[in-house]
Amino acid sequence: MAKLQRSSPSSRYFYPWPVVLVSCVDEKGKPNIITIGASSICSSNPPTVGIAVGTMQYSLTLINQTCDFGVNLPRADQVRQVDFCGSKSGRNMNKFEAAGFTVQRSLLIRSPLIEECPVSMECKLIETVHLGNHDWLIGEIVAVYCDESILDEAGNFDPSKCNPLFAFWSEYWSIGAKLADWHFMRRESCLGDQA
Ligand SMILES: Cc1cc2nc3c(=O)[nH]c(=O)nc-3n(C[C@H](O)[C@H](O)[C@H](O)COP(=O)(O)O)c2cc1C
Repeated sequence: MAKLQRSSPSSRYFYPWPVVLVSCVDEKGKPNIITIGASSICSSNPPTVGIAVGTMQYSLTLINQTCDFGVNLPRADQVRQVDFCGSKSGRNMNKFEAAGFTVQRSLLIRSPLIEECPVSMECKLIETVHLGNHDWLIGEIVAVYCDESILDEAGNFDPSKCNPLFAFWSEYWSIGAKLADWHFMRRESCLGDQA
């Protein structure tokens, strides 16, 4: 089959990213949520996360005021709330109340977290890269919270219990079947210890 060059370069062809809900707060204490499809872990030590926020977004103004934000990972069955937070601006409404989310107080940052999301992270803004119509915000993760529902009996994180939500080509997708563990090839005899 032929591999055809598309008419213009675009990052949209990337395969799914997890959808995250970024929480922030204004100077009067009104919390806000923005749905973000473009996010990534950046480094593991220190633990950092990056998010692409449009330069015109109301949430960007709030994050720049506090220099922090929350990253909350929703479940696939929260897709209606996710889409709502990505379709309305918090300029004139309280999206926590409108979407039926509860404010979870943070310990180390001013931005709140979302209690109903199974994973939430407190992030301090450490760097901003101006790229064009989006800024790439890098936050250091200073605290992480996991709901008991995604832990196994020993209290360890269990990915099979998370039911994450992904953004793929302007559509929402949930996760498919597990294929293998990382580095499974190292255990196969053809590679031995060479990998
Ligand atoms: C699935 C989805 C993914 C989105 N991803 C991004 C993104 O990565 N960056 C961004 O700036 N806006 C993104 N948006 C748009 C914002 O969430 C949307 O403009 C939101 O209403 C902005 O909220 P605010 O005005 O309260 O800041 C996305 C929206 C949806 C529905």
